[in-house]
Amino acid sequence: MCGIVGYIGTADAKEILLRGLEKLEYRGYDSAGIAIANERGVHVYKEKGRIAALRDVVDTSEESVVGIGHTRWATHGPPSQVNAHPHQSATSRYTIVHNGVIENYEQLRREFLPHVNMVSETDTEIIVQLVDSFAKDGLTTEQAFRKTLSQLQGSYATALIDNQDQETIYVGKNKSPLLIGLADGVNVVASDAMAMLQVTNEFVEIEDKEIVIVTREQAQIKKLNGDEVDRGSYIAELDSTDIEKGTYPHFMLKEIDEQPFVMRNIISKYKADDESIKLDEDVRQAVTQADRIYIIAAGTSYHAGLVGKEMIEKIAGIPVETHIASEFLYNMPLLSDNPLFIFISQSGETADLRGVLVNVRQMAHPSLTITNVPGSTLSREADYTLHTHAGPEIAVASTKAYTAQMAVFAILAVDAAQARGVEIDFNPLQELAIVANAMEIFTEKKDLMEEAAQEYLSVSRNAFFIGRSIDYYVCMEGALKLKEISYIQAEGFAGGELKHGTIALIEEGTPVIGLATQKDVNLNIRGNMKEVVARGANPCFISMEGMEEEDDAIVIPKIHPYLTPLVSVLPMQLISYYAALHRGCDVDKPRNLAKSVTVE
Ligand code: F6R
Repeated sequence: MCGIVGYIGTADAKEILLRGLEKLEYRGYDSAGIAIANERGVHVYKEKGRIAALRDVVDTSEESVVGIGHTRWATHGPPSQVNAHPHQSATSRYTIVHNGVIENYEQLRREFLPHVNMVSETDTEIIVQLVDSFAKDGLTTEQAFRKTLSQLQGSYATALIDNQDQETIYVGKNKSPLLIGLADGVNVVASDAMAMLQVTNEFVEIEDKEIVIVTREQAQIKKLNGDEVDRGSYIAELDSTDIEKGTYPHFMLKEIDEQPFVMRNIISKYKADDESIKLDEDVRQAVTQADRIYIIAAGTSYHAGLVGKEMIEKIAGIPVETHIASEFLYNMPLLSDNPLFIFISQSGETADLRGVLVNVRQMAHPSLTITNVPGSTLSREADYTLHTHAGPEIAVASTKAYTAQMAVFAILAVDAAQARGVEIDFNPLQELAIVANAMEIFTEKKDLMEEAAQEYLSVSRNAFFIGRSIDYYVCMEGALKLKEISYIQAEGFAGGELKHGTIALIEEGTPVIGLATQKDVNLNIRGNMKEVVARGANPCFISMEGMEEEDDAIVIPKIHPYLTPLVSVLPMQLISYYAALHRGCDVDKPRNLAKSVTVE
């Protein structure tokens, strides 16, 4: 989703801003822009489409050592050059970039700016026009900025420059992520540390309803009432090579291939010296004291949460409900007496989850975030955090974060079972090592997966994924992967449910991918496959060693039944990748999608 960068230092700002925006491309966007300031004023360059298009319109002869930049994922007004950020006030004194959604912008416009002509359709423009209007009333820029932010309802991360003081960037935040990066004589602003690793790895977090006055020499944090805030910095443990594609054509393929390493990394991070599970006692207590666990998530993470529910209930015997965050937010079920909320999120920034977390904190219920980004908003605001240790995930379609989330659930479930005295014959750390080896087999079988994509998905408009019990959840994920990157309409169904309506869609040649890794439902799902084949479907059956039959298209190695989703999803990820590739789709940056979904 939208991304912000800012730079004040001594080097060429425009190149640093453009490179920073390129690092944010993975978040998803449809237009981009930068503003740079020099003695001739503030110069704004913006363009619909990719950063490459923006580069073409930037005047390379304009030199500057201060500027702000933005990638926009359209919310108010379609993607266009006019609606792209930065936006300027009517007098051109102020220039702004903004992420988030201002809920009361119409009201603010009527109240404070009835005579101001808005150039764009965005809610953002209201912010910059308000600052200008308050400054005209005699306030300093800082006062006008604080007064403006105090009026806003909704979410924002924003950076503002003043043509009359080119030595300062004014930054503010509420609910949307934003960081300040510190270096010697240089300071930067970024929605994601990755964008500014080119300058520094030392960052300061900004909390909601704070502003930061950023100059070359310092970054002064204040509350909206002007009170100063003292906060230390931290070193981002990110390696810039983690966010490069290397020799891979796409981040998605690289991240699929990284999954065996991620499994081994998780094992090493969660293994104690005596080979037992290493987990904070606080987390253990929070899980074991709960009478019911509520897993809250969205998209792929929701699919991991469905598998997490199976693991915790079956292994630890604690009742679990998994909910879609955006539904839970406005339609909460009756809660148990001692609930624990688990927020599962790759990015740790998803607005729908954060909305639920805010409510959960108000109700004083304990919360645990399982995330790939430990310093993220959901991680900071929950009581406890477990890290998925998957390394930065850049491709919009989530792959390694999904399998990492399920691996952490397995560890959490077994730890809780042991703490509750439940007898179990399942060592997740040993079994995950087997998973890692099995994953490797698939990453080496890319030719076969490419052929399968050609055979089943080269011409079809739609596809179905069917499975039962835990396999059903993997089918939901397989279908999501296929549709988001190849735009083939795909649905994941419970095998037994198909005949209650959806089977009407099966016609000659419709691809149906069936999955069977669970012995108790093997014959049932094979029966469901026969039903669709009898109606003309083109079947691709994925099974597991020990349960395979002659015509099965793909057979995964034998895996512990709780962990089969971690391996059975790999052929689905790879088939989706090749299907998208053959259709000429932009695999890493699918249309309309954003990596970090920071609006509700
Ligand atoms: C799909 C995908 C999304 C995310 C969802 C939640 O491949 O990546 O469905 O899973 O937007 O994002 P996080 O996990 O960051 O909360």
